[in-house]
Amino acid sequence: MAQRYKDFVEVGPDALAGRFLRSFWQPVFLSEKIAVGRALPLKILGENFTIFRGYSGQVAIVGERCAHRGAKLYVGRVEGDCLSCIYHGWTYDASGQCVSQPAEQRSFADSVKINSSPVREYHGLVFAYLGSGDPPEFPLFDALESGGIVEARESRRLYPFFNQLENSVDEVHFNFTHRSSAFTDAGLNDQIPEVSGEETEYGIVRYGKRGNAVRISHILMPNCMYAAVYGHEKGWTDHFAWRVPIDREIHSTFNLTVVHKSGAEEAVYREAMAKQRAALRKLEPADDVVDRIMRGELHLDEVDDRPDILFIQDAVAMKAQGSDVCRENDLLATSDKQVRLLRNIWTREMASIEEGRPLKAWRIPSNLPVTKGVDV
Ligand code: FES
Ligand SMILES: [Fe+2]
Repeated sequence: MAQRYKDFVEVGPDALAGRFLRSFWQPVFLSEKIAVGRALPLKILGENFTIFRGYSGQVAIVGERCAHRGAKLYVGRVEGDCLSCIYHGWTYDASGQCVSQPAEQRSFADSVKINSSPVREYHGLVFAYLGSGDPPEFPLFDALESGGIVEARESRRLYPFFNQLENSVDEVHFNFTHRSSAFTDAGLNDQIPEVSGEETEYGIVRYGKRGNAVRISHILMPNCMYAAVYGHEKGWTDHFAWRVPIDREIHSTFNLTVVHKSGAEEAVYREAMAKQRAALRKLEPADDVVDRIMRGELHLDEVDDRPDILFIQDAVAMKAQGSDVCRENDLLATSDKQVRLLRNIWTREMASIEEGRPLKAWRIPSNLPVTKGVDV
């Protein structure tokens, strides 16, 4: 299969990238956003769904519309662990099975079923398996099973997921995009890193070498970045970041961060984070700042005192890169070795799907190597 950039960003159920992503459990929603007794629309991987939380606390994901006359189900009513359509009351359980047609004297509910997806909540994220057939085993990560404060976040990013995924293996951009940031304060930008890496049983291990210090991070196939890093304020933290497309243009990054603190240290940390969040709420929204920069009304370096500057810097770089250019014209250089590797693995796996061959048996080992000698 020839490598075509559009193959990486077409994420619907019939597209190759869409089928590759659907072969794995994916985070699709933040648990705290779906309250008991509520239903909401969910768009992910180019498809529309309905997500709801029943009164037992169980989350379910079913098709977007009612099988009767097509009303969108998220405006319906949650009843027990079922969802009842607002229009004529057809009611569906978590498996999408219609269980009630109140206006029919002879119900044929047994024969009516809408789509549903296996769901699992894990550390504040709702994961779903959106592929066909039985789901693979749910991955439990050692770093998330060993205590500490686990924080779940979603950030909507208005550029394609593959730009962000490539950025996850691109350490050279630190010295340019993040020239004025905590990375520089930590001495990470004193020199341009020598980058290397290789394919592994789980994805990619990537090294950024500066003198004797080596920063290590990982891609867990197909779309998750993982790194364990040390920072003065937080101590050891584990970062997971799934880049999950909403459609071909935009994506959500779902983060799980583990901060290894407890007792009094935990209280201090939580207070500091709450203060940071309160400070951010008072500032102009980051996406508005990015828009002004993209319109040429402001330069990135004029807002580098913001606490969310890393997000803004990445967003500007990736919006500048854009989704409408043909990546086949990129001039990949030696410092892009990991980008090339990532594209090659994805291309190989998509070719397997296209030709009906099995994917590589990706496997995440319990102990992945972590960064040593660099404070980030
Ligand atoms: S459209 Fe849903 S019950 Fe009629
Ligand atoms: Fe970045």
